[in-house]
Amino acid sequence: MTEKQVTGGRVAMITGASAGIGRALAVKLARDGWQVAVCARREEALRAIAEEFPELADHLHPFPLDVTDVAESKAVFMAVEADLGEVDTLILNAGDYDPMTLDEFDPDLFRRLAEVNYLGAVNGIGAALGPMRERGRGQILVTASLSAYRGLPQAAPYGASKAAVLNMAESLRPALEGTGVSLRVINPGFVKTRLTEKNRFHMPQLLTPEAAAEYIHQEIDDGGFEIVFPKRFGYTLKFMRLLPYRLYFWLTRRMVQS
Ligand SMILES: NC(=O)c1ccc[n+]([C@@H]2O[C@H](COP(=O)([O-])OP(=O)(O)OC[C@H]3O[C@@H](n4cnc5c(N)ncnc54)[C@H](OP(=O)(O)O)[C@@H]3O)[C@@H](O)[C@H]2O)c1
Repeated sequence: MTEKQVTGGRVAMITGASAGIGRALAVKLARDGWQVAVCARREEALRAIAEEFPELADHLHPFPLDVTDVAESKAVFMAVEADLGEVDTLILNAGDYDPMTLDEFDPDLFRRLAEVNYLGAVNGIGAALGPMRERGRGQILVTASLSAYRGLPQAAPYGASKAAVLNMAESLRPALEGTGVSLRVINPGFVKTRLTEKNRFHMPQLLTPEAAAEYIHQEIDDGGFEIVFPKRFGYTLKFMRLLPYRLYFWLTRRMVQS
């Protein structure tokens, strides 16, 4: 929890804010005058953000959180509201990734990535839904991935967890209509972070975390269901969703062989 003086402004809560996309977005929103609760497991990494940007220290508030813990997700959401005020925008961005070849098939990896990427987002929605519905306002953005669209080589544990996130959001979105609460999805392409450092293949249109944060920032208030970037890569993968399996597998087989 923060001991700093809170000086007003809209309140955002971002999970997975100690690194990569979440960190860059937290800095961007803080620069815009938002009060930002930055959440992740590593408290020292959260504190380091305010140390790196001392001019934003009054806007960046560390709240350590492991998103796989249901009770902690709820308690931290309540602590953020008690300290900073009503959360206007909740960004459920915490995530993990490891590629997996067929020879490395590992049920534990499926379980670990599902716990963080999918159930972590479920825990965040579960924490915020009651308070947001009660007051009839708020938005929740969950980070899925362009890999959620269709199965990609060596990405079964990760892609399946992100497909679950996307499917869940598609399922809940219409039910929330009329409640004042909106559920939205962020679908990034490749972004240069700790996660993509694990990839050994060429990543088309690789973005910096700051460029990714800029895309999210541009659409943060437009209410649309999906924030997708970079646009050209996003639309290519959207088109691939339409391909019949025979053609789709012809393409992905080439990726496995290359
Ligand atoms: N990079 C890409 O190309 C890409 C593409 C599509 C989607 N995404 C998604 O974008 C999101 C951000 O990823 P990134 O690329 O920015 O990776 P990153 O730099 O590794 O950041 C991941 C963040 O999630 C946090 N995190 C991991 N497990 C957590 C847990 N159990 N509880 C709370 N926080 C946890 C990490 O902090 P701690 O370790 O301190 O907990 C870190 O702040 C993820 O959901 C990722 O799947 C990334």
